[in-house]
Amino acid sequence: MENTVIKINNLVKRYGDLIALDHLELEIKQGEIFGLLGPNGSGKTTTINCLLSLLAFDKGDIEIFGKKMTPVSYDIKKEIGVIMQNVTVFDELTVYENIDYFCGLYINDKAKRKQYVEDAIKFVELGDFRKFYPKKLSGGLLRRLNIACGIAHKPKLIILDEPTVAVDPQSRNRILEGIQELNKNGATVIYTSHYMEEVEQICTRIAIMDKGKKIAEGTKDELKRMIKNTETITIEILDIPENILKEISGLPHVYDTDLSNGKLTVCCSGGKHNLTRVLDVLQRNELSFGRVYTELPTLNDVFLEITGTALRDKEE
Ligand SMILES: Nc1ncnc2c1ncn2[C@@H]1O[C@H](COP(=O)(O)OP(=O)(O)OP(=O)(O)O)[C@@H](O)[C@H]1O
Ligand SMILES: [Mg+2]
Repeated sequence: MENTVIKINNLVKRYGDLIALDHLELEIKQGEIFGLLGPNGSGKTTTINCLLSLLAFDKGDIEIFGKKMTPVSYDIKKEIGVIMQNVTVFDELTVYENIDYFCGLYINDKAKRKQYVEDAIKFVELGDFRKFYPKKLSGGLLRRLNIACGIAHKPKLIILDEPTVAVDPQSRNRILEGIQELNKNGATVIYTSHYMEEVEQICTRIAIMDKGKKIAEGTKDELKRMIKNTETITIEILDIPENILKEISGLPHVYDTDLSNGKLTVCCSGGKHNLTRVLDVLQRNELSFGRVYTELPTLNDVFLEITGTALRDKEE
C-alpha cells in the first residue's frame, strides 16, 4: 500500500538455538508513532537491527518505503534516523561537533548543515552545552545528544530504541514531547520501550511483543478492549471475614478478588456500579476501610491476561 512505510514479513532470527524473532509480521504506516512494547529480551532491539540490515536474519523479508531493504540500500538509509539503545557518540568530540559529524554523513551543503545542526541543538535544548564533551553531560543530557545526532538530518523515518532508560523525569518529558513534535512535523516514528506508561502516552498504535512473537496489536483502546478486565477496584482494609469476601467474589461482574498486604483488590468485567456494590457489602457488615480507588485497565493488564505474567514484574 502506498502509505506503508515499513513491511516486515515472516521474520525469523535465531541466535544458535534461541529463536529471538519468531515469524514476526509488522506493518507501519506513514504518520504513525508505532510502539514496540515488550519486556527485556522480547526481541525489540533484534527487530530494529534486522530492519536496518545491521543483522542478518534466517527467514523473511523487509520493505521500507516500498523497496526491499538490504545492507547497501543507502538511498533508504539516508531517510532514516536511528537512536540506538546504547548511546553512540564520540567522546573526543563536543556536543556541537558530534551532531555536525552525524549530520554531515547525509548533508553535504555546509550552510544547510549548519542550520540543521542548530535546529537539532535547539530541539533537544542543549544550547548551553554545545562546547561540552559527552563525559561532562548527565545521563539525561547525553541521551538528548544521542537523539540530536540521530535526527539532525531531518529523516522521514525515526527509530528510537528505549531512549528514556536511566533518564531523569525532566529529560524524559522533553524526549517524549520532542518525539511527538517530530511526528507532527511529518516523521513516522518507531518507538521501543518496556515502559507501558510511555507507550500509552505517545504511541498511536502498539505491538506487544513477548519471546520474539507479536502477541497483540492495536491502538491502546483496542488492546484494552481485547481483555475481560474493565476496572480494578482497590480498597485499603486490614481484614475481611471469609464469608464477606465470598459475598464480594459473588457480586455481578466480579471475576477475581485478592486480599493481601492490607489491600482488597476486586477485578471486574463490565457493569456500571461495581464500586458502589462492593462498598455496600462492606458498609452493611460494618467493616471500616481506608483509601478506595479504581483503575481502568492498563497495557500491563493486557500483557498479563495474554501471557500470564506481568510486564511490570520483568522491569528492573
Ligand atoms: N548477539 C546475541 N547473541 C545471542 N543472543 C542474543 C544476542 N542478542 C540478543 N540475544 C538474545 O535475543 C533475545 C532478544 O534480545 P533483544 O536484545 O532483541 O531484546 P530486547 O527486547 O531489545 O530487550 P531489552 O529490553 O533488554 O533491550 C534475548 O533473549 C537475548 O538474550
Ligand atoms: Mg533492546
